[in-house]
Amino acid sequence: MLNNFFNPKSIAVIGASRTPGKIGYDILKNVIQYGYQGAVFPINPEASEILGLKAYPSILDVPDEIELAVVAVPPKRVLEVIGQCGEKGISAAVIITAGFRESGSEGTKLEDELVKKARESGVRFIGPNCLGMIDTHSRINTSFFSAGMPNKGNIGFFSQSGALGIAVLDLALSEDIGFSKFISMGNKADISDEEIMQALAEDENTKVILGYIEGVKDGKKFVEIASQVSKKKPLIILKSGITSAGIKAASSHTGALAGREASFDAAFKQSGVIRARTVGELFNYAVAFANQPLPQGPNVAILTNSGGPGIIAADACDRFGLQLVPLHKETVDELRNFLPPFASFYNPVDILGDATAERYEKALYLVVQDEKVQGVIVILTPTAVVDVEGTAKAIANIANLIDKPILTSFMGKKSIESGSKILTKYHVPNYSYPEHAVSSLNVMYQYNVWTKRPEKVYPNFEGLKDKALDIFETVRGEKREHLTDSEIYEVLHAYGFLQLRSLMARTSEEAVAAAKVIGYPVVMKIVSPQILHKSDIGGVKLNINSKKEVENTFFDITTRVKHIMPTAQINGVMIQEMVSGGKEVIIGITQDAQFGHMIMFGLGGIYVEVLKDIAFRIAPLSKEDAYEMIRETKVFPLLRGVRGEAESDIDAIEKSILLLSQMALDFPQIIEAEINPLVVKKRGEGVVAIDARFIIGGN
Ligand code: ACO
Repeated sequence: MLNNFFNPKSIAVIGASRTPGKIGYDILKNVIQYGYQGAVFPINPEASEILGLKAYPSILDVPDEIELAVVAVPPKRVLEVIGQCGEKGISAAVIITAGFRESGSEGTKLEDELVKKARESGVRFIGPNCLGMIDTHSRINTSFFSAGMPNKGNIGFFSQSGALGIAVLDLALSEDIGFSKFISMGNKADISDEEIMQALAEDENTKVILGYIEGVKDGKKFVEIASQVSKKKPLIILKSGITSAGIKAASSHTGALAGREASFDAAFKQSGVIRARTVGELFNYAVAFANQPLPQGPNVAILTNSGGPGIIAADACDRFGLQLVPLHKETVDELRNFLPPFASFYNPVDILGDATAERYEKALYLVVQDEKVQGVIVILTPTAVVDVEGTAKAIANIANLIDKPILTSFMGKKSIESGSKILTKYHVPNYSYPEHAVSSLNVMYQYNVWTKRPEKVYPNFEGLKDKALDIFETVRGEKREHLTDSEIYEVLHAYGFLQLRSLMARTSEEAVAAAKVIGYPVVMKIVSPQILHKSDIGGVKLNINSKKEVENTFFDITTRVKHIMPTAQINGVMIQEMVSGGKEVIIGITQDAQFGHMIMFGLGGIYVEVLKDIAFRIAPLSKEDAYEMIRETKVFPLLRGVRGEAESDIDAIEKSILLLSQMALDFPQIIEAEINPLVVKKRGEGVVAIDARFIIGGN
């Protein structure tokens, strides 16, 4: 896939400049100076020779076949050049030139024309507005990165930002970190992140994929491809760029809670993407995956020459859910045999500040071979007696023998530099801080869990849609945005949600009669198409126990609402069965501009927006998605029951979430919907939808 980009037999640099320091000059220089074996053709109408190579006025003048074009001509010339690429039969181009979508409306127009021209000409392209791409294995460097060629390695990196790419490559050079490929994506007008992720997944020189993105064009496609890619190789993405465009309307809790980053968080979780929050994390995780085997479980041992950093690492393990496993008795005994008596023989194993390289080696060899241990963090603080280089070599020797991950934290900078270089050379990732070693080991463990997960199972709720179709058609016909209470009742009923017995009352007398039918105590709620959050304006009264109370409350609610919202149309008051017991949760649907419908679950009731204890997933949800999102929230331990409480019906919540996901699939016009509260009863007793609202678009 994309072979002509990464393995072309010949390259033309269109806009190759004669002037050192100009971009077109640097690109040509990079193309030829790092050992690329194919033919290179500088294209420049003003030149006959550049950097010792014969130059041609246009690619159409080149007699030989060209497989890749690198375009660095001014923006107004790019379309013409791409047309010529088509004529010449070049199917791959890297467009460095800036001045397109990123520069405003004129540039956007030009970019649209460029895409059209490229399609007509049969040319696929990376960019425009990019730094170029590098393949350290085929020795291609089409970038104008001037600090050198990155080392050969197994990290594939694609970046929306060229500048970040430069910074990362520069850092990688100074830290001896190797890359397989680097692709500066620029404006992603043609070749997308998804295509590059797929290409890197198939690339045998790439073991781990890194990405920097600011946004995605097609969220569903991203989730689909990222899910496939992450099953093959670790996919670590740093995402920046916060947009509020994703939230089309935010008048319900679900909309307001969706926030800006919820969709990406959900997308990454669902597709197994490892999210790096900082450039530092991106690197930390990358070197761990690139160099060490995956831990087969969460059991970690810590080996250190000082107590404090050992405890810091232990705390970090605890935070991430990694386990400091008690070592086997034989291991402890053997450690005791040769370590000084003041050493700590238990996990963390503290071999003391006077530890020699030999002591490190012996102790590590014992600890890593303990069958309970699935990964080791080795910490070294540069005491006066420690042999940094000898210890690094000893660790590297063992790491090369054993198929368990060993990550190190040689702390400090100056005193440990030579040891750190040795570790890097022998593929043992070293971190300045123990927490970083632990967090990297943790993502490796999490990734291993991800790759072993069974295929997702999607529930089948066919046929429910038909029962609610008429209602949505009516709302569309009447060009309304909100469903009325009775319509909501019908829709929820169609999807099998249990609801409370409710009767509508237009007068106080009707309310009394309804309460009698339903049975005391009852709840009374204002019914008005304009009022979405009834309790906020005193439109809900609970626990009404007598005829007199019903009459008073009817008067009270209707006058209060009329006073607060004089323009609201009041249809009456709903008399509802009063539910007692159970826990309140919220489930909802919202729409994201990039990922489409998202499903929400969280703590329900009136505190939902304050506590924000919520989780999102992108529809359609699998059973695993529903299972996991419930367990992600703090409501979960409450649902399990605290202090002898009975467990809530968590299975019924899962089913409700999946039903809502189905509803979102069935009715794309839903902009927002939520059931709040959804009261969860004891295990086996189900859930009851107490209140709900629906907002519909596209009318
Ligand atoms: N075919 C071939 N060569 C051509 C053509 C053509 N149609 N038209 C012009 N040229 C030649 C010129 O003769 C010139 O050669 P010379 O220097 O020997 O005279 C060369 O191409 C360059 O043309 P210039 O008009 O001098 O253009 P300049 O070099 O100033 O700019 C460039 C071209 C670099 C593509 C510029 O338009 C540009 O886009 N710069 C920004 C690039 C960028 O930042 N990209 C994003 C990087 S990512 C990041 O942020 C780091």
